[in-house]
Amino acid sequence: MLSPTSGLAARGSLEGAAKRRASYHPGGVDFKEQGPSGELHTVRFAQLSDIHVPDFEGLHLRDFAGKRLTGAINLLTKRRNAHPLPVTERLLEDVVDQKLDHVVVTGDVTNLSLPGEFQRAAKLLRILGGYNALTVIPGNHDVYTRGAERQQRFLSYFGDVLFQESVPDTDRVFPAVKVFPSVVLAALSSAVATPPFMAWGEVSTEQLDRMVEALTAAEHDRRFKVVLVHHHLHEESSRWKRYSARLRNAQAVIDRCFQAGVDLLLHGHTHLAHRTQIVRGGHTLSIIGSGSSTQNTTDPDRVARYNIYTVNGRALRIRTRVYDPAARRFGWML
Ligand SMILES: [Fe+2]
Repeated sequence: MLSPTSGLAARGSLEGAAKRRASYHPGGVDFKEQGPSGELHTVRFAQLSDIHVPDFEGLHLRDFAGKRLTGAINLLTKRRNAHPLPVTERLLEDVVDQKLDHVVVTGDVTNLSLPGEFQRAAKLLRILGGYNALTVIPGNHDVYTRGAERQQRFLSYFGDVLFQESVPDTDRVFPAVKVFPSVVLAALSSAVATPPFMAWGEVSTEQLDRMVEALTAAEHDRRFKVVLVHHHLHEESSRWKRYSARLRNAQAVIDRCFQAGVDLLLHGHTHLAHRTQIVRGGHTLSIIGSGSSTQNTTDPDRVARYNIYTVNGRALRIRTRVYDPAARRFGWML
């Protein structure tokens, strides 16, 4: 078992890795679109997901009620070591070492939407950089209660990596759209507060309208279009999960992605890697779930992993780095 001490000891090397990255690449959006000969530069970005950063300090069941109580019991019992901090730290070290142009996190950075979890998750992810280097969307665990939803707690910790400083709070609505020289990224929120034992999601019609409007702008005609959403879009085999954990308007999201000419739709939520393609009218929409990036298990289907996407024009290459619990490090999946 990895102890909290080993996590603290690792922080020095994590900061070292961040410095190495900073000296290598100053910002995700600063790379040039074309070289001197006019060829498109490749863009490399990582997808992390469902890192579920824990914060057990001061966590007492007597402080919780309702949905949080069931979640806290789950967290303190069977999920206690499911996403240990040392794995998150190994993950971030490894991501830094890949010297990428950008990193996206497709939701569930916390467990119970507690301020302590958000603080720790935000501090850890800042190792990767700010707005230019990092995009984080909320998952159902990040809008775990009506209070967290009402207070927009996720945006209070991650609004600055989604929206430029000049955007006032009132205009900070999803999707956040980031424009890179050859890629445009729309970050949706499917996270809504749900009753106990439920984990479904929904993307509002207004968000989808704004997404289509932004991505169909003529200036993005030649750009590779990427959309992020936490909930998966495929049907799960479990009848209970099909009811409790689904994206309620998955079909509408897919339809609007085709309307917007989206090339790649990235999701999390299932903790299982997933890839599919839908072809309609000659256009291909790739839909990819990375799986959880911090899951501490010997199950080869569920152990921590993350994807690295290389985009060159309309060409997409996907590689996966997976965690080896015995060696306590990530390496390429063969
Ligand atoms: Fe989730």
